[in-house]
Amino acid sequence: MHYRTLGRTGWNVSEISFGAWAIGGSWGDVSDAESMAALHKAIDSGVNFIDTADVYGMGRSERLVAQLRRERSEPIVVATKAGRRLSPHTAEGYNAKNLCAFVEDSLRNLSADCLDLVQLHCPPTDVYYRPEVFGALDRLAEVGKIRYYGVSVKRVEEALKAIEYPNVQSVQIIFNCFRHRPAELFFEQARKRQVGILARVPLASGLLTGKLRPNSQFAADDHRNFNRHGESFDVGETFSGVDYGTALDAVEELRRLVPEGASMAQFALRWILGSDAVSCAIPGGKRPAQVAENCAASNLPPLSEETMRSVRAIYDARIRPDVHPRW
Ligand SMILES: NC(=O)c1ccc[n+]([C@@H]2O[C@H](COP(=O)([O-])OP(=O)(O)OC[C@H]3O[C@@H](n4cnc5c(N)ncnc54)[C@H](OP(=O)(O)O)[C@@H]3O)[C@@H](O)[C@H]2O)c1
Repeated sequence: MHYRTLGRTGWNVSEISFGAWAIGGSWGDVSDAESMAALHKAIDSGVNFIDTADVYGMGRSERLVAQLRRERSEPIVVATKAGRRLSPHTAEGYNAKNLCAFVEDSLRNLSADCLDLVQLHCPPTDVYYRPEVFGALDRLAEVGKIRYYGVSVKRVEEALKAIEYPNVQSVQIIFNCFRHRPAELFFEQARKRQVGILARVPLASGLLTGKLRPNSQFAADDHRNFNRHGESFDVGETFSGVDYGTALDAVEELRRLVPEGASMAQFALRWILGSDAVSCAIPGGKRPAQVAENCAASNLPPLSEETMRSVRAIYDARIRPDVHPRW
């Protein structure tokens, strides 16, 4: 495993880290025993950074991460998120009182005295135009409830606005073979301000592993079933917002570019690691074998420039028209 600096935090994080959404819920049936095995495999593979959220299984994911920390002696940095438990999910809800309550709940779930990194969880765009929200986070840091804070954003424009706040340490954004726009302007700006970047949904919800088929079935409580058209939350979080059939056609073209000795999931992760502005990719892992495969991508050679150009051409031809103007 190779490590990269995360902005100005002083942390060196595993370039392949662990996304803990699926072990909380919304991805069909997951057993806590298998989730714990997947988490342990991550640490065995050199992972030292985990991304979770209060809302993933309403604390279930955070509690499993807390259990992992009790069972392991290695230092593990945990990034969690706050805001998505608001109902309705409004900009007004991101106030000092609510943020404080969310942080207290995460502290309890994670059995921690101080949260390493709290990210605003894809808040409404208006939140980025409310300095008082960032002021409230500053105060939580001053009193020692949180070490650092960052944001998880839906759109590049939100990312650009968020990094105007000087204490935003990290931006989490979708960046993968089906999402190229963050690399255009945002990465350069983030680098200038030394803001860390977490590349989420790196496998486009499993599409970029090459295993999905036109007739693949998903459980009723798997967002790849219930949110395929954005019925519950932003459609961009499910299959990166790409139409399923269009994506499968693009996957077939990408498959031809996978170098010998690499799986398609590893190829997709290597594509992300080709951007040095990225601090880490956070693939979701449900099973130990998936985690081991994903982590092994760190030790594979970089993709050739020719391959990178070919990925770009596939994106431009098949994905760009629907995706580029939106995210
Ligand atoms: N709004 C936000 O802030 C937000 C939104 C989305 C995600 N995230 C974060 O980003 C992380 C990653 O995104 P994601 O989990 O949505 O999507 P992802 O990483 O693109 O896909 C993860 C899913 O792909 C499958 N998979 C993973 N590795 C595999 C492998 N090697 N071979 C075959 N299948 C594999 C697993 O599901 P199956 O085995 O069931 O196919 C897994 O749950 C999340 O866990 C979460 O921490 C944050």
